[in-house]
Amino acid sequence: MLKGKKIVLGITGSIAAYKAAYLTRLLLKKGAEVQVVITPAGKEFITPVTLSALTGKPVVSGFFTANDGTWHSHVDLGLWADAMVIAPATASTIGKMANGIADNMLVTTYLSMKAPVFIAPAMDLDMYAHPSTQRNLDLLRSFGNLIIEPATGFLASKLEGKGRMEEPDEIVNQLEAFFSKENKLSKKKIVITAGPTYEKLDPVRYIGNYSSGKMGFALAEACASRGAEVILITGPVGLSVNHPVIKRIDVESADEMYEEAIRSFRDVDGAILCAAVADYKPALFSENKIKRKTGERLSVELVPNPDIAAALGKMKKKGQVIAGFALETNDEEKNALNKLERKNLDFIVLNSMNDAGAGFRTDTNKITILFPDNSKKVFPLKSKTTVADDIVDEMENLLM
Ligand code: CTP
Repeated sequence: MLKGKKIVLGITGSIAAYKAAYLTRLLLKKGAEVQVVITPAGKEFITPVTLSALTGKPVVSGFFTANDGTWHSHVDLGLWADAMVIAPATASTIGKMANGIADNMLVTTYLSMKAPVFIAPAMDLDMYAHPSTQRNLDLLRSFGNLIIEPATGFLASKLEGKGRMEEPDEIVNQLEAFFSKENKLSKKKIVITAGPTYEKLDPVRYIGNYSSGKMGFALAEACASRGAEVILITGPVGLSVNHPVIKRIDVESADEMYEEAIRSFRDVDGAILCAAVADYKPALFSENKIKRKTGERLSVELVPNPDIAAALGKMKKKGQVIAGFALETNDEEKNALNKLERKNLDFIVLNSMNDAGAGFRTDTNKITILFPDNSKKVFPLKSKTTVADDIVDEMENLLM
């Protein structure tokens, strides 16, 4: 998978930089061409001589070579590469990348990069857990960058926790997995619904749910990274996408989501219905704010919302594939299979509220995929990004 791939390997100032030599070696062994870009702090941990001896290329660090004035073009590197891998990535470099602080060759190269970027953080556990680092990583994810999660274990600080750079073998595995999927969905168009819906009660209140939209956004990124054209219809969420092939349509209510989904479905190959659509909406919308009447009960009459999944299931033509989700608390598989059949879906992704780490407001998910012939695939607890990949694998199988 990596044969002939041109890889810019960015190295920053972390003790894990010593592993970058082994990572370079592994990439070369797989047939990749490696160009190292190292920060000034990175050079304190590993010498450019080691890296240039391995790659057979001068290591780039400054904007030009002092003795002869040779200019190193970060723009050219951005166009040359098939992937950029920053391993190890320190909290400082992650912060600079997230905020466009281009004060060294590595960050300018990152900002010029046309190819996918993989980031393998390495730092102390408290630095990793700090809201500043987490916010910066979320920003990088929203730019479409792929974060290679650090491992949990013994750290250079002699503390134990999450922050240790992922092992070079695993980084190479993730790169290979990425390239093996690249372009698998090219020329395919997929519509995805995500997030909650808000059903208005009055000008300042609504009925909603806890869906964060993370699963739907991860699915959109996964489809886009395989070359699909993606239409992402999302309810109100605090997330952003930056993948150029994701067309985002923001909606608020189930009715608005329904209209957009019906409009898009006609000329797509597949749909993944991940939104937590409110089943009911208030029968009446009060133009004025509903006032409290001390001591009195207040009843709100609710009427059903349209079922988007069922409507698309009815419209479905030969060759189109629809995947739905089921979040269940009891009789999980039976209820999910019932939905699959009732909505005419091709497969359904079951989340059980009884599984810790699954469902709303988490970064992880634990799913079972059920098919119309009652067969199933059970997956362990994984990050939502990895779960998205498993779901898109099924979509891809059915679309081929
Ligand atoms: N769904 C939808 N439109 C709705 C309700 C649900 O498109 N109005 C989709 C969801 O996006 C999901 C699937 O249908 O893919 C299952 O949603 P769920 O709310 O669990 O199904 P319901 O049929 O509403 O069943 P329940 O009685 O469990 O709420």
